[in-house]
Amino acid sequence: MILKKMKVILIAGARPNFMKIAPIYEEMRKDQYFNPFIVHTGQHYDHNMSQIFFDELKIPKPDVSLGVGSASHAKQTAEIMVKFEKVVERESPDLIVVVGDVNSTLACSLVAVKLHIPVAHVEAGLRSNNWSMPEEINRVLTDRIADLLLTPSLDANANLEKEGIDMSKVFFVGNIMIDSLLKHREIASNSTILESKGVIDSEYALLTFHRAENVDDMKNIENIIEAIGDIQKWIRIIFPVHPRTKARLKEFGLDSRLYSMENLIIMEPLGYLDFIALMDRSKFVITDSGGIQEETMILGVPCLTIRAETERPITVSIGTNIVVGLDINRIVTEAMKIIEGHGKKGSVPEKWDGNTAHRICLVIKNHHF
Ligand code: UD1
Repeated sequence: MILKKMKVILIAGARPNFMKIAPIYEEMRKDQYFNPFIVHTGQHYDHNMSQIFFDELKIPKPDVSLGVGSASHAKQTAEIMVKFEKVVERESPDLIVVVGDVNSTLACSLVAVKLHIPVAHVEAGLRSNNWSMPEEINRVLTDRIADLLLTPSLDANANLEKEGIDMSKVFFVGNIMIDSLLKHREIASNSTILESKGVIDSEYALLTFHRAENVDDMKNIENIIEAIGDIQKWIRIIFPVHPRTKARLKEFGLDSRLYSMENLIIMEPLGYLDFIALMDRSKFVITDSGGIQEETMILGVPCLTIRAETERPITVSIGTNIVVGLDINRIVTEAMKIIEGHGKKGSVPEKWDGNTAHRICLVIKNHHF
């Protein structure tokens, strides 16, 4: 008897999605049960925000590219929905898998549930409780409509239970991003990114920020720049600049102030392997990214999160992360502690072990949709 394979559409849209779908695709490919199919919405499209991740993570060319590009939230979400609906109607998948909290995640989930196609959400249950973040809206709404909620940590299960979600749909599978990190850490150690910038054998901190609530607000972005100005007097800082941040710095006329700092090295956004190498060798990281809070924890690198809160509390409770907010003094004080050798130590959370994709596939196989 020939079994009909389960056709699963994996949604990739923005940079932090790619390292999450790669291990799920690979696991499904190895398994006779699944027929994985990749849809790239095109939310991110620059070579170093998208294609380089496909190359380095060995994700095959997407089966369908929607090519939506950048626009306002409404336009981007709506355009993904209109285009994705046609794909779902044509391909008749058995399941859609969405990851994370970007606009593509919510847009594709909405389309699927309305066509009665089950949705599995990987990285379900994280909450910042900050409704001004687009990501929080995307997370809460996706979790509300998904048929299967796959969580990275038990705090996420608790959030879902508190919201009255039917817990028979919720499974604690671990952190999918860590599957990719552990697989590529050693290969990344061959990166020559530091040598190419002439930064050899010197200590440095790595900086990334791009969140709308930080960079679209002039006061917030100014605070960050001021703190960076202080910290770079004590340690070299490497800063790969996200396109949104680059655009805002220019718009607010803050770019020359930042770019003229003596001990700051500016870079274009980096590929996956170079970025892991930079994190791994850094003294500490300053960031507003969610994924980087988790990756630094596994790499044992102290992390200062320049946000008011985190939806990933485990990175603080048992990890290397400290949420420092946007207060200049606090950011500089915590950075100085690390420079003086008092960086936070952490441990590894349960099921952040590189086997999350395997657990996800098992749950999907055993679930009655
Ligand atoms: C999106 C996600 C955010 C995630 C981030 C990672 C949402 C609501 N936000 O934010 O959660 O942390 O991705 O990077 O989904 N741009 C380019 N090239 C690109 C992509 C974007 O130049 O390849 C520029 C455009 O000017 C665009 C801006 O960056 O307007 C912002 O892109 P967008 O996808 O809207 O949001 P991000 O800030 O990247």
